[in-house]
Amino acid sequence: MREYYQGRLIATVGDITEMSVDAIVNAANASLLGGGGVDGAIHHRGGPAIMRECREIRRHSFPKGLPIGRACITRGGKLDARYVIHTVGPVWKDGKQHEDALLEACYRNSLDLAAGHAANSVAIPAISTGAYGFPRERAARVAFGAIGEFLYRNTVPRTVFCVFYSIEDYEIFVAEADAILQAVSEQE
Ligand code: APR
Repeated sequence: MREYYQGRLIATVGDITEMSVDAIVNAANASLLGGGGVDGAIHHRGGPAIMRECREIRRHSFPKGLPIGRACITRGGKLDARYVIHTVGPVWKDGKQHEDALLEACYRNSLDLAAGHAANSVAIPAISTGAYGFPRERAARVAFGAIGEFLYRNTVPRTVFCVFYSIEDYEIFVAEADAILQAVSEQE
């Protein structure tokens, strides 16, 4: 584990569905009707109650699907988490389709929802870096910056866990985060 921002951002390796936090962020798709990866794991472990709420959200709020960069919240079903925050990351194309800004919006909107629901601890996966093909180094820089910006301006959530499914993914994030902090300290 590595800690940043006075211990308010913790990078760790593991299965996000096992995290005992107030809210877990799901790397969903626009349909909100499940999929593989994190999405599949959360619905599998969280049970059908989460899917029922997702269908209600589709019906009442997003009949055309949850737009990329947006987030919505359901209860956590059988998960230890009280809430699941579903967000739709951008599919990586060529870096010229506003992918960075859309990925940043996923983090910002997810943390906004967490704060609005007094979720003091939040676990977030490496959104878009799996099936959606976002380069992990670039996604790490976007995530580290977006979370840092949010934590600088907000006291809730108190702690954000960036949960990586593999040591390699974790090490890529840590290397990028350390490089960013090194560059900032050299400018001071
Ligand atoms: N815990 C933590 N991280 C996980 C887990 C897990 N249980 N399962 C997968 N991951 C990691 C992947 O290794 C990857 O680093 O989460 C990251 C995001 O990968 P995906 O789950 O594939 O999400 P994404 O790239 O955003 O693609 C979303 O995939 O599963 C479908 O329905 C989903 O269509 C959507 C698309």
